[in-house]
Amino acid sequence: MKIYIGCDHAGYEMKAAVKELLESKGHTVEDMGGDGGRVDYPVIAKKVGKAVVSDEGSRGILICGTGIGMSLAANKIKGIRAALCADHFSAKYTRLHNDANIMCMGARTLGIGVALELTELFVDTPFEGGRHATRVDLIREMEEEF
Ligand code: RB5
Repeated sequence: MKIYIGCDHAGYEMKAAVKELLESKGHTVEDMGGDGGRVDYPVIAKKVGKAVVSDEGSRGILICGTGIGMSLAANKIKGIRAALCADHFSAKYTRLHNDANIMCMGARTLGIGVALELTELFVDTPFEGGRHATRVDLIREMEEEF
């Protein structure tokens, strides 16, 4: 799978660990920054979000201090469903039920071990479709309406 990954200065170390895991599992990872220096999270969220919407079937991972700023910013992009995850159930079910295409994590709220397990769940879990597809379509309608 193609995975676009990005972080701000708070998430740099966690991003390196997530990237290493994904590459070891044979995924193609494109690093959209940052480079460890101070960078505003919306700048990186925009880059990763744009890449994910224009590359069908790809996914994104965004890491900042809390994961909140990244998720707020990424969800401004039409077609992005960015889920802030801090537990295993959420990482699994945001794929099964929401067809989330970006997962956001907080480097100051999560240990790296948990972040790696959430990453595996997010990447390996398929969308369930069915009644959940109807709900995702309702989100798409909202994107058109507002
Ligand atoms: C950076 O200090 C911090 O505000 C950022 O990483 C993030 O937590 C924002 O949501």
